[in-house]
Amino acid sequence: MACVIIVGTQWGDEGKGKIVDLLTERADAVVRYQGGNNAGHTVMFGEKTFILHLLPSGILRKTTSILGNGVVIDLAEMIKEIDELAQMDIAVEDHLHISDRAQLVMPWHKTFDRLSEEQKGKNKIGTTGRGIGPAYEDKVRRSGMRVGDLLEPELFKARLEEIVEEKNKLLELYYKSDEPSFSAEEIFSEFTAYLKILKPYIRDTPLLVNQMIEEGKNILFEGAQGTFLDVDHGTYPFVTSSNTLAGGACTGTGIGPTRINKVLGIVKAYTTRVGSGPFPTELLDNDGELLQSEGHEFGATTGRPRRCGWFDALLVRQAVRLNGITSMAVMKLDVLDKFDTLKIAVSYRLSNGEHTENLPRSLENVTPVLEEMPGWKCKSAGITEYDQLPREMLAYLERISELVGAKVSIISTGPKREETIVLNPDQFWL
Ligand code: GDP
Ligand code: IMO
Ligand code: MG
Repeated sequence: MACVIIVGTQWGDEGKGKIVDLLTERADAVVRYQGGNNAGHTVMFGEKTFILHLLPSGILRKTTSILGNGVVIDLAEMIKEIDELAQMDIAVEDHLHISDRAQLVMPWHKTFDRLSEEQKGKNKIGTTGRGIGPAYEDKVRRSGMRVGDLLEPELFKARLEEIVEEKNKLLELYYKSDEPSFSAEEIFSEFTAYLKILKPYIRDTPLLVNQMIEEGKNILFEGAQGTFLDVDHGTYPFVTSSNTLAGGACTGTGIGPTRINKVLGIVKAYTTRVGSGPFPTELLDNDGELLQSEGHEFGATTGRPRRCGWFDALLVRQAVRLNGITSMAVMKLDVLDKFDTLKIAVSYRLSNGEHTENLPRSLENVTPVLEEMPGWKCKSAGITEYDQLPREMLAYLERISELVGAKVSIISTGPKREETIVLNPDQFWL
């Protein structure tokens, strides 16, 4: 039995979906613990490609898939995702479970996400526009509605009426919007219809997860976003609104820290970021363009081009510490096949001229000090045998491992499930 957390170590899109799918082979359950449908987790096997936004990636292997209490759920979007999977012959019926304590993303959350970004103008965060920030705001200010509330229609309706009144005032008086106001009646009937579809899935998931642990099952906790989008430890305010770190898996699912056995950090072999915010190793030149085109770096949720840059060892070392990472999966190495030289940020020069190897609070005015390594200049894409990996790639991996203080346990050479080298498959499960 083991509990393994999968966590992104950079700004998201590291390849979490691929690795969750891979390790699901031996897992009894996959649990999402935070975020919502702002995530886009890509899984490819055979000739098929799936992009999961809200449902845990384990759903593709028909493994018990749980949306924990820490997740924010847009019911309409979730039903759409379930329907899309059904069209691809993936039924969710018996193995999807949704926490009765998870917060609902309500229509006003999406509207306010958009209006707030418009209001911020050039200082916008560049959110995914899925209402995630406003939904978490309401959770914390105790104005949220939870999945379980739907099970008590009269109470749900009364609370809805109260909240809608407040949200309409916000829309009209604060945002000065001429958009139509929210109707409690319409929303109630819309959500009553959702309940009809989703009722069988609603559960006390903290109980379910803890019972599975007591039965000695293998459980994967699927992080969304990445370490530096964490609301406490990320590049605030250019972050998402949840705790993306491994620690979030405890509060977001209702298990104690003593239950966690392993934390696998997912590390892209270079760095990307979508949306606004500081990015010390960002490349605005041909190298950046090459990373973007070779890596197909376009957002899986919004389709926006991802900003690209060199590997930043300060970021990932900090991620190793913040998450208690026990080993790393290094992804997308094949994307570097064409580079003569690779660069790694090993320290930052601060605006006062001093140097640091530890990540400072603000990344706004730092200049990365780059170390160069020779590229491998040959096709590594699709290699599945460790012995066939180019010598220069092994040196690059060794240097990364040394700089960040964690060992490499998985090497990924392509987007497909099969294009992976797992160094010791038994290490994840006790
Ligand atoms: P996630 O949000 O962390 O699950 O990552 P995304 O799915 O948003 O982005 C990762 C992208 O890289 C997806 O398009 C994957 O199919 C792709 N990918 C994952 N691993 C590899 C790899 O080793 N090589 C290449 N070329 N692509 C990969
Ligand atoms: P996965 O799970 C990359 C970014 C947005 C924006 C910031 C806040 O696929 O790695 P939000 O809509 O969450 O309020 O946006 O966070 N962001 C992501 N970037 N991958 C993601 O998810 C992201 N989810 C949110 O681009 O900068
Ligand atoms: Mg993604």
